[in-house]
Amino acid sequence: MSSQQWNAKQYQQDANFVSDFGRSVSDLLNPQANEAILDLGCGTGELAEQIAQSGAQVYGVDASASMVQAMQQRGLQAEVMSGDALTFPASFDAVFSNAALHWMTDYQAVLRGVNKALKPNGRFVAEFGGAGNIQALTTAMKEVVAANPEMGDFRNPWYFPTAEEYQKQLEAHGFKVHSIELFARPTPLKSGVEAWLKIFANHIISGMPPALEETFLRETAQRVEPQLYSAEQGWVADYVRLRFHAEKVAALT
Ligand code: BEZ
Repeated sequence: MSSQQWNAKQYQQDANFVSDFGRSVSDLLNPQANEAILDLGCGTGELAEQIAQSGAQVYGVDASASMVQAMQQRGLQAEVMSGDALTFPASFDAVFSNAALHWMTDYQAVLRGVNKALKPNGRFVAEFGGAGNIQALTTAMKEVVAANPEMGDFRNPWYFPTAEEYQKQLEAHGFKVHSIELFARPTPLKSGVEAWLKIFANHIISGMPPALEETFLRETAQRVEPQLYSAEQGWVADYVRLRFHAEKVAALT
């Protein structure tokens, strides 16, 4: 995700639903006092701060320096590190991740790194976009880019697996899966769909001249409006979540 630029301030303003929804994943984590917990793709650290209230020691990693800085400003420890290049030796009781794993397309390298970072029987608890996530949005973006060749090629930077596929991957990387579920979670976008696109489709629009960016935002919004907008609810994105709780039962060599 090197071409994705993150702006922690804008993220906190227009994407606070990410951590609001993430609270149920941190409940599944059930952090305990004095546990060492790695927050993989920690973002601005809002959930890490909540987890730390249990008395656990939370350490964040994120590929974005802007996000790491935002987490450090909360007085929490974090460093810039790509999820597919984790370097921790069996030091964590748990690895937690919310709304981040879908950006890490080298998922096998991620799972190897998580396995190595965990102590024996350590848990891996996470939620991210699963099969079918943002289908309407992705289809619309692809169509708009295809209709406007000057926008370049559409690149899909996300990994949205099915529960079966991801369970197999977890098992192949030394984990026992205690629970895994794929579910639709329609997500209200209080700041509207164009604000969502500016943050999450930044890899497509960064580098476009302003007029072309404006066309991309307007035409994508027009295409998804019949599916994602209603006068009663406003904009609601078609999110699908994959949530799981796994345990390290074998160390990878
Ligand atoms: C998400 O499912 O959280 C998501 C996926 C792709 C882009 C933005 C958000």
